Amino acid sequence: MWKFYGICVNILVKTYSLWLYGETEVNIMRMTDIIEKKRDGGVLSTEEIRFMVKGYTDGSIPDYQMSAMLMAILLKGMDRRETLDLTMAMVDSGETLDLSRINGVKADKHSTGGVGDKTSLILCPMVAAQGVKIAKMSGRGLGHTGGTIDKLESFPGFNTGISEETFINNVNEFGIAIAGQTADLDPADKKMYALRDVTGTVPSIPLIVSSIMSKKLAAGADIIVLDVKSGSGSFMKTEEAAHELAENLTAVGKMAGKKTVAVITDMDEPLGNAVGNALEVKEAIAVLKGEVKGELLELCLTLGSCILTEAGFAANDAEARKMLLCGIEDGTALKKLAELVEGQEGDPKAVYDTSMLPEAKVKFEAISKRSGYVKHISAADVGLVSMHLGGGRATKESEIDLSVGVMLHKKVGDFVEVGESLGTIHASDPAKAEEATRLLENCYTLVPEKVEKPKFIKGIVR
Ligand code: URA
Repeated sequence: MWKFYGICVNILVKTYSLWLYGETEVNIMRMTDIIEKKRDGGVLSTEEIRFMVKGYTDGSIPDYQMSAMLMAILLKGMDRRETLDLTMAMVDSGETLDLSRINGVKADKHSTGGVGDKTSLILCPMVAAQGVKIAKMSGRGLGHTGGTIDKLESFPGFNTGISEETFINNVNEFGIAIAGQTADLDPADKKMYALRDVTGTVPSIPLIVSSIMSKKLAAGADIIVLDVKSGSGSFMKTEEAAHELAENLTAVGKMAGKKTVAVITDMDEPLGNAVGNALEVKEAIAVLKGEVKGELLELCLTLGSCILTEAGFAANDAEARKMLLCGIEDGTALKKLAELVEGQEGDPKAVYDTSMLPEAKVKFEAISKRSGYVKHISAADVGLVSMHLGGGRATKESEIDLSVGVMLHKKVGDFVEVGESLGTIHASDPAKAEEATRLLENCYTLVPEKVEKPKFIKGIVR
């Protein structure tokens, strides 16, 4: 009788452990098996994904195995459940920011990256001026120009390395803080992104989604607004690919319990006219003063409306846009930028007097030798011109020159006469400026027939 009971209990335990852990009771996980499973198109379990992220972060899984896994994911993909598991495993690889000490609705914004993208410098003060709290962690740029925090360092004294305490206090006091991402936030992404960069595994939707959303979820905001770039100057070269990325980003955000909206925007030419750190800050200030309109303002109004409506601060987009424009007209958005700068030890006078910002020693015009309508401006190549001038980083250790860059005078759809300036080169020495004028001309495609301005906002995924 007891023997019979013993056998029954044993069967029950085995069935339970099979259900819980898979094939065997004693299941030793090996990275090699997980790589092979994904290589053959298998679906990874939550435990396998957590094992690989934890092991790679703590160093027990080497780069060569993770490289193979990243390539297998790029080639075979991941379903939504796997992508969410990967995202959450990356969030759990480090610290998360506790924003519960901040009163009110907290919003964060992320862009998939583009040339001349100074949107955060405009959008964040515009939205904070309406009462939504902006608690934003931002990265430094690698490549054509700096990231948002590099650009903010154009303000004399600005400190992007403020403590968590100051960050929280500033959001409570001024409604806005933008700080550099700390090393202990999402360490898995730092290692994985660096590896993807050198193994040809950046353009994978599950890898991009988990990389972006893990950082955003670890940073703790209630509302996440994403600017998904589409076109030759971005990861997503086609509108369809950008749409697919936007769908996946919003789905994972919602599955993780956050209000998430993605706006798909054109990146077939640089955003706005300035490319280069201090030049972009000056252009952002001009938008906040109401002096510059066009696609840059349109983008900030669209992203800002998404935040205000999701936050319940506006009943619809039309009302939200009105509120945001009001903040520009009455100067409160610009004042919010000054408060951000002052709260992080910068000199707020530079917001009102931009001659205090870094200024290049040499300015050369890039004179066009051809005439025609601008059909295309290679955003990636304009980014390289700025990098060549010293405005971007070739390696993580490179110092950037905040004063240099390019101010474009002609955009897609404009007519160019022979002898007209395509753009002003801001450089540290004449030799570099000379070379850059030649490079900039090569970024332009001119055609004889009239060219329509491209549609800038290509879609919104709510
Ligand atoms: N931006 C990120 O943060 N990660 C990616 O993988 C791509 C863009």
